[in-house]
Amino acid sequence: MAEVVIVETPDAAGEVAADEIEQLVRSNPRAVLGLATGSTPLTTWRALAARKLDLTQVRGFALDEYVGLPVGHPESYRSVISREVVEPLGLTPSLVRVPADSGPIETAGVDYEAAITAAGGVDLQVLGIGSTGHIGFNEPGSSFASLTRVKTLTEQTRRDNARFFDSPDDVPVHCITQGLGTIMRARHLVLLAFGAGKAAALAGAVEGPVTASLPGSAIQLHARVTVIVDEAAASQLAYADYYRYAWANRLDWEKL
Ligand code: F6R
Repeated sequence: MAEVVIVETPDAAGEVAADEIEQLVRSNPRAVLGLATGSTPLTTWRALAARKLDLTQVRGFALDEYVGLPVGHPESYRSVISREVVEPLGLTPSLVRVPADSGPIETAGVDYEAAITAAGGVDLQVLGIGSTGHIGFNEPGSSFASLTRVKTLTEQTRRDNARFFDSPDDVPVHCITQGLGTIMRARHLVLLAFGAGKAAALAGAVEGPVTASLPGSAIQLHARVTVIVDEAAASQLAYADYYRYAWANRLDWEKL
């Protein structure tokens, strides 16, 4: 079962996630981080930036990228990763990859998988979850064995992400995303979720049946998962009281 940490606020969750990342980077300054974009990881990046760690040797792989936005578009995930992760955390730009950041789109998935493998695999993958239950942009129906590839976003996800664009029609229809198989190879998954709008997807991912209809449920098959959520996102978890009890009673050696 995933370790589920329920905290009061997204800021508190960001501190817990930053603790996990700090511990990893202190033990391995060349660690490989999997980087999510969107709103959810922002408190994590902020908490980490405040710690002023030397992250210049850390390698990074973004989860996904829109397909079809002009190069340099402020909402391309290349731009978002530069603005929200690389610059504030002091990462080295050349060590951070985003899918399809070089070469033709047709071979971008295979190239990305090869780059992750060459880096030794992802040590810690930061994840958000979409209201459709997606992780990365693996929408319902995605194979648990899938690798980095081009996908079509659901209408729901395009509506959810319209807040980042001038018009809902500007949200790309296509994306390129690490697959569920790619994500599952990471050595540690840290999934964050905030707000009541994520409660159903989160409960399905953590406690529901393991099914491609809710791609986030793939995390139940991973041996090391830390789920960090606020009270609103936790509101549909059947075992919330047990998770709180387990966290409050964690053993000294389990504390970071
Ligand atoms: C982003 C990603 C997505 C988001 C999810 C939640 O790189 O892969 O799975 O994590 O759509 O988005 P937010 O955090 O904006 O609610």
